[in-house]
Amino acid sequence: MPRHVACVMDGNGRWAAQRSLPRTSGHRAAETTVIDVIEAARAAGVEWLSLYAFSTENWSRPSAEVDFLMRLVRRVVRKHSVLLHTRGIRCRFLGVTDPRIPPALARDFADLMTLTSGNRGMTLTVAFDHGGRRDIVEAARSLIRSGVPADAVTEQSFAAHLPYPDTPDVDLVIRTSGEQRISNFMLWQVAYAEWVFPPVLWPDFRGPHFLECLHAYQQRDRRFGGVLPTQNGEPRS
Ligand code: IPE
Ligand code: IPE
Ligand code: MG
Repeated sequence: MPRHVACVMDGNGRWAAQRSLPRTSGHRAAETTVIDVIEAARAAGVEWLSLYAFSTENWSRPSAEVDFLMRLVRRVVRKHSVLLHTRGIRCRFLGVTDPRIPPALARDFADLMTLTSGNRGMTLTVAFDHGGRRDIVEAARSLIRSGVPADAVTEQSFAAHLPYPDTPDVDLVIRTSGEQRISNFMLWQVAYAEWVFPPVLWPDFRGPHFLECLHAYQQRDRRFGGVLPTQNGEPRS
């Protein structure tokens, strides 16, 4: 079982276009999938689930779409906070630094984090206004400010300056919609992740699709640059 699963929730716009609906309808339809995937992950025993909801690059979308997403996310957070809490889920928001984020939304994020901070079930990290490169640059700044000598910097001490340094490396990334790229997502943490690219658009993705992705992960040989014991014999002559 992967300990940390991360999802790039992609394909909302195409889902709407297929139905001749505005892109915003696709975002609205994504809510059901989000709840379904959280539930499937929790039931399967995944300890860490991360969802990519809004990237630092998504600010370049038309302002009406951005505004819609801000309002939608606020509504979803408020609507489901009690459910998340009663399920024992610890919620976190990764990113959330841009001044364009409505203060009321930032407050709702903070409230949900506080409400669920003592929970010991799955940790749900929602990446919102997130950029992997920005996190790395911020970590570098924080490291330099700490006055550590250059030669003392290690991968471990560097990672300790990333946001939520207790987050384990990502084991499995699921990117829906068939797109096969990283789009600046948790760059440090995905260094050795396995990837799956289900051809399903995010609003059509459901718990059983999530379980299929877990199954695909279980078929992978994770080598981390080494050789598996089963591959370790001398070549047969
Ligand atoms: C993902 O769906 C949601 C966000 C990035 C907020 P898209 O909006 O990227 O959908 P497509 O890729 O245009 O289909
Ligand atoms: C990545 O999807 C960001 C989120 C899912 C939140 P995009 O649709 O924004 O990424 P690109 O533009 O295809 O790289
Ligand atoms: Mg997209």
